[in-house]
Amino acid sequence: MKKIVTYGIFDKFHYGHLSLLKRARELGDFLIVGVVSDEYAQDRGKLCVVDSLETRMENIRKTGLADEVLIEDHDSQKVEDIVKYGIDALVCGSDWQGKFDYLKPYCKVIYLPRTEGISSTMIRNQKYPKVRVGMIGNGRIAHRFVKEALAVEGICLTGVYNPHQESASAFALQEHLAHVWNTPEEMYEDVDAVYICSPHQTHDEYTEDALTHHKHVLCEKPLSFKEENIHRLYALAEQNHLVLMEGIKTAYCPGFLKLMRTVNSGVIGEVTDIEASFTRLTDDDLREWTDDQFGGSFTEFGSYVLLPVIKLYGTDVQVDHIHSTNKNHVDSYTKMILSCGNKTATVKTGIGVKTEGQMIIAGTKGYIVVDAPWWKTTRFEVRHEDPNQEEIFESRFVEEGLRYEISDFLYRIEGHPGRDDRLTAEESAAIGRILEQFLRARQ
Ligand code: CTP
Repeated sequence: MKKIVTYGIFDKFHYGHLSLLKRARELGDFLIVGVVSDEYAQDRGKLCVVDSLETRMENIRKTGLADEVLIEDHDSQKVEDIVKYGIDALVCGSDWQGKFDYLKPYCKVIYLPRTEGISSTMIRNQKYPKVRVGMIGNGRIAHRFVKEALAVEGICLTGVYNPHQESASAFALQEHLAHVWNTPEEMYEDVDAVYICSPHQTHDEYTEDALTHHKHVLCEKPLSFKEENIHRLYALAEQNHLVLMEGIKTAYCPGFLKLMRTVNSGVIGEVTDIEASFTRLTDDDLREWTDDQFGGSFTEFGSYVLLPVIKLYGTDVQVDHIHSTNKNHVDSYTKMILSCGNKTATVKTGIGVKTEGQMIIAGTKGYIVVDAPWWKTTRFEVRHEDPNQEEIFESRFVEEGLRYEISDFLYRIEGHPGRDDRLTAEESAAIGRILEQFLRARQ
């Protein structure tokens, strides 16, 4: 029996896919089709897949051409499958020409001509018009956002608004944006959604204004320093059928999602302690030091370190103790101890003190060490009493990593189900509550 294998994402199943499967089937007696998992697709930079894994697998089954349909979810899987199933040939379209030659020691590799004039990308672009996004603010992260948006299918950055118009004009020129709006109202005429990256304390006002004008909002963290405002903003978004997302990039990146799933699988038992640090030495002339009301390390990085605590312990986490080392009226370093029932956590942030940026999650059966910088999760180790039981998990975090949240934002605007658990309204509000408590304690 001659066994053939082929792999693909098979999103928005089309006649190009069908033709490839037919030709692959004719080359042998048994056809195995590997369908790329959502996470693995993301990991490899495909951020725009619309159909769920189940739908994509079902579409393959419905053709009646595949004898077996399996999930592809890691780099070495092709070799593993070829050996495990005794595969004679791997088949794929000619757009992959040469890419799988490394498999030639294991089986034949056949590149078939790709069907002209059709692709999943084409179908997605026809079905979902590009979302026009206006930027409010053009600080440091705005440059990174523009770069990251280029990596995501389906977004069109139209322009920028900043009350400091000269700054906005210079930014638009540098980043090749078409518009510099004089007022937010002008901007709303031209966009479907806004990305807010203005100074922290203005986030909630801009968010409310955009939602009131029926625009979807992706707002940089922190959404607000007031819990009450966060609840109100999410309620407003829901009432107006709009997407509101807080841009804590870690919450949306594949490595962190994998980490959360691993912990939730129970592999380290019941989580009892979390230690997470985020420090970045920051120049004296920057907002983090000069803004004596909203500057400092915890307002800057607190959202990140609180994220895994809220995700794993739930939204009832309480602050037990805050120690801050202050300079110029802001905290250059903060260590906060939190608890939730009998579970505890220590989080540390610094702009004037440097420490290891790792995270340790301890449970009743073992613990997980997440390599620094854990907030750009790429690698973590699951360890047990017995050192032989160690397991290593890896994931990609491409460049600035904002592409993951941008992709989720578009995905939700387009109305696809299933990605609204990355950071819920309640989790966002719980983070806001602790930031508010921190600021009150600092006064
Ligand atoms: N394929 C093909 N002809 C097409 C499109 C895809 O032969 N017009 C083949 C690919 O070469 C691959 C398999 O079908 O072997 C699965 O391709 P996939 O990447 O899932 O589909 P695309 O339409 O190429 O997706 P995208 O536009 O997202 O790249």
